[in-house]
Amino acid sequence: MKVLLLGATGNLGLRLVAALLTHGHSVVAFVRSPKKLESLIPASVYQQITVVQGDATDSAAIKKAILDAGCDAVVNTAGLAALPPWGKSDLPKIFRAVVDAAREAGAERKKPLRAWLLAGLGALYFPGSETLLSNYIPIYLEHRQNLQLLQSLPQNTIDWSLLCPAVMTPEGSEIKVPTASSHAKLIGNAWSPPSWRDSWVKHIPLIGKVILCVMNAQRYKTTLEQNAEFIADDLESDESRWIGVTVGVIDPSK
Ligand SMILES: NC(=O)c1ccc[n+]([C@@H]2O[C@H](COP(=O)([O-])OP(=O)(O)OC[C@H]3O[C@@H](n4cnc5c(N)ncnc54)[C@H](OP(=O)(O)O)[C@@H]3O)[C@@H](O)[C@H]2O)c1
Repeated sequence: MKVLLLGATGNLGLRLVAALLTHGHSVVAFVRSPKKLESLIPASVYQQITVVQGDATDSAAIKKAILDAGCDAVVNTAGLAALPPWGKSDLPKIFRAVVDAAREAGAERKKPLRAWLLAGLGALYFPGSETLLSNYIPIYLEHRQNLQLLQSLPQNTIDWSLLCPAVMTPEGSEIKVPTASSHAKLIGNAWSPPSWRDSWVKHIPLIGKVILCVMNAQRYKTTLEQNAEFIADDLESDESRWIGVTVGVIDPSK
């Protein structure tokens, strides 16, 4: 696919440049600073991508980039969610700009765009319930309003998927193509975390489910390379089981 990638200079974005190219996709990187991107990846990789300069809060510029390059998909890793419950960042503004651009570009080309967007573990449901995990551990709350925005979209406007990883760490700092994660392929699950470990502790009044979330959270640490591979691999097919859902991921060894 031809993919517009926002946030290519970030931790996950850099790994996505390598993973997308490795999976045979064409990459159009939408960045604030092409110079910064050029300094972060080898020249041999930079030469394989198209770079568009722009701000990810500028919906019209993102839409233009999609249509000018003839992109079929958008991957957004731009914007970092604020940590404390009261924190604010540009992420909701960026998220809305990307969604609006993808929706309008899809309408213009008369085919919905495929889109992968990022949230965190808290945007998944506590297994067996319709309560978000971030109700129990109220951090990174900006992801919730982004999820609400996606859920408010009429059908067939964007073929979206919302990846909800816990902490992602780097396997290494070198960006190369072809790339491969040295870890196993992630296992995904729609709407709630895969392989959740249940326990009687959840029945402790008031704090039981909070304790269970904390007990489980450590197991959902993954690597940036694993998540980049997960998205790049999924975009190889027109049919995806992840369209219209939040996606939790876990390393099978956990
Ligand atoms: N890292 C984790 O462990 C983790 C875990 C769960 C979820 N997430 C989510 O995953 C996403 C990616 O995380 P990350 O660690 O890769 O973040 P990151 O390293 O902080 O990268 C953020 C990227 O956003 C870009 N950006 C910010 N504002 C922009 C704007 N106005 N216009 C264009 N680009 C802009 C930055 O570009 P510049 O280089 O120009 O600043 C950078 O490339 C985030 O939404 C984060 O909340 C991360």
